[in-house]
Formats: sequence, structure tokens, C-alpha cells
Amino acid sequence: MAVRVGVLGATGAVGQRLIQLLDPHPDFEIAALTASESSAGKTYRQAAKWRVDSPIPDDVADTTVTATDPEEVPDDIDLLFSSLPSSIGAEVEPPFCEAGYVVSSNSSNGRMDDDVPLVIPEVNAAHIDLLEVQRDRRGWDGAMVKNPNCSTITFVPTLAALADYGLEKVHVSTLQAVSGAGYDGVSSMEIIDNAIPYIGSEEEKLETESRKLLGDFDGASLSLNSMAVSASCNRIPTIDGHLENVWVETAEDLTTDEAAAAMGEYPSLDLRSSPDPLIHVFDEPDRPQPRMDRTLGDGMAISAGGLQESPFGLQYNCLAHNTIRGAAGASVLNGELLLENGYL
Ligand SMILES: NC(=O)c1ccc[n+]([C@@H]2O[C@H](COP(=O)([O-])OP(=O)(O)OC[C@H]3O[C@@H](n4cnc5c(N)ncnc54)[C@H](OP(=O)(O)O)[C@@H]3O)[C@@H](O)[C@H]2O)c1
Repeated sequence: MAVRVGVLGATGAVGQRLIQLLDPHPDFEIAALTASESSAGKTYRQAAKWRVDSPIPDDVADTTVTATDPEEVPDDIDLLFSSLPSSIGAEVEPPFCEAGYVVSSNSSNGRMDDDVPLVIPEVNAAHIDLLEVQRDRRGWDGAMVKNPNCSTITFVPTLAALADYGLEKVHVSTLQAVSGAGYDGVSSMEIIDNAIPYIGSEEEKLETESRKLLGDFDGASLSLNSMAVSASCNRIPTIDGHLENVWVETAEDLTTDEAAAAMGEYPSLDLRSSPDPLIHVFDEPDRPQPRMDRTLGDGMAISAGGLQESPFGLQYNCLAHNTIRGAAGASVLNGELLLENGYL
């Protein structure tokens, strides 16, 4: 029987992707949609300015959107996918967990808390058991799991593939799509014919979340990976798909052929939304490209290319679809992991 799920922040850019992915999902049944007070009481069709590339599902379109409040969400819902602005997530996600709901969240609040699992299932599925520590410490019947920031998700799987060579220093420079800022995030007058070399708080997220994802969990506590990470983040006028340039210094020598093999053979998982292969490695020097490669693996694959040696270690480019692999798909995959591990 399908697990009844709800979407918090269902009308936004990530919320709409969540609806698109959850509507046909065999394990999940959408049973509640929430948004701000200004959307509450409207049908989803009225409240959401639907912009994703498939028709709005009929049954979802006629569902009434409620306020984002545990009192408004039916008790028989087991799992909530959250795509709220982080300031709102910080206020409302803990009360939902306290009320017994399991929350799989995109929002950045709490990602670095030492009892909150930050998970990319193919990279650190074992960290999900940090939920036992969380429940003991917070006394929640529910639970909170986070997926990382969209640009962190893009490069960390490639680092995980290289981890056996000893990750020492990483520099990543991003070229991020406008959808990453939400529908109202960047005005067209700012971004057309332009590039903006600043995205508030983004660099710190890449530098810290990557070390948590690749850290060690011993069953009781989690230690951050010791690698040094430096990030510079840029917004560019693509719609979807974050492209990143990465330089990695490793303890052991690493050839480009070894790196390409390690990435191409990095294992996927037996979860519905996990693509196989996880990392698609291009030989062509001008790939990956956002418009051509963001939908690989139904938008859940990472792609890499341009591997070469440099004075700063291995150099390459990588790409992921920011609202699918980087956000909605990441939360759904964490939902599948929660189900697989008996947390629902
Ligand atoms: N876009 C991406 O690529 C991406 C990637 C990774 C993570 N994220 C994170 O995912 C979250 C959502 O991002 P987004 O791009 O989808 O944002 P968005 O398009 O601005 O959507 C925000 C959603 O939150 C709701 N909301 C706003 N204020 C609220 C309030 N006071 N109470 C309850 N609900 C409220 C909105 O409802 P109304 O329609 O009623 O205003 C809408 O459903 C953010 O935390 C973002 O950082 C985004």
C-alpha cells in the first residue's frame, strides 16, 4: 500500500517538481498540500502558477491547499516533503516532527545540526541512522532528514567516487541556473546578458555540507571529513542545471583515466529514483552542458567531463539538474531510503 505523503511549500519551484515526481510514484500517494496563508483555502490550480514541463495532475489540481501548520495536516500522513524557504522551515518543521510526522526537507535550516542526517543516499545512506540519535535527544515521534543544497549535490558524488585516493583540497566554482533561486528569486533585468558572481550564503553551504556528507558516522556521532573545500558561486542565465568546475588534490596520485573509471563505475543504489549509472562520464571535451545533459537519468544523474591534470590536481566539470537531483528528486530519494530502512 502506498505511503500517504504531504508537500509543505507545494506551490513553489521545488514544490511543483515534487508534485511532478510524486504523482506517478508507486510508493507514495499525495494526500496534503500546504503553502503560505495567501494560498490557503484555494485549490492547487488556483494557488500554484504551474510552470513545470508536464501537465498539472488532475487530482492534485483540485486539492485544497492548507496553511503550513500541523493542525491542518491529516494525522494519517506518514511523510512530509518540505520545500519551504529556510526561515519558514526553521519555524515550522520542528513542530511537525514533534507532532509525529517524518519530514524529508530541502530547506537549509538544520542541515549542519549534529543530530540531523544530511543525506545523498548513493553517498552516505548509513547516516540515516543518525535519526536514532535525533529521536533520543529531541524526544520526537517524528524525524527530520535533510538533503543538501543543490550545488553541493552536484559535485559531492564525484568526490565520493574519488575518496579512496584521499581527498585533501577541493576548489569548486559554480555556474548556477536561475531556477535555483525560486520563481521570484532573480529578476530578468538582473540576469539576462549577465552573470552574478555572488549567491548569498551559498559558498559556505558547499564548503560545510560537503564535509558532513563525506564524514564518518560511528553509530553515535558524526565527524566531518578533513578535506579543505573552497567554493565560489555564480548565477548565470540558464533555466535549469548547475554546471561546476572542480579541482581536487588527492593524497595518492590519480590519473585522468583512473578518475574517469572511478566516477563511471561508482555504484548506484537499488532505490526507485536512483539512476544507473549514477555518474555519466563524457569523453567529449565540451560536455556536460546544462541544456543537453540535465535530464540524463530522468534528471537524477550527475554528469562529468573535461577531466584533465592541472597544477592544482585533477580538474573536471560536473552537472546536475538543480530542481530534480538537486532538490525535489533528492527529497523523494531520501523518502525512498526512509521507507527502505523502516522509518515510515
Ligand atoms: N530551487 C532550487 O533549485 C532549490 C534547490 C535546493 C533547495 N532549495 C530550497 O528549497 C526551498 C524552496 O525553494 P523554491 O525555489 O521552491 O522557493 P519558492 O519557489 O519561493 O517557493 C516557496 C514555497 O514556500 C511557500 N511559503 C512561502 N512563505 C511561506 C510561509 N510564510 N508559510 C508557509 N509557506 C510559505 C510558498 O507558498 P506561496 O505560493 O503561498 O507563497 C511556496 O510554496 C528553499 O528553502 C530553497 O533554498 C531550492
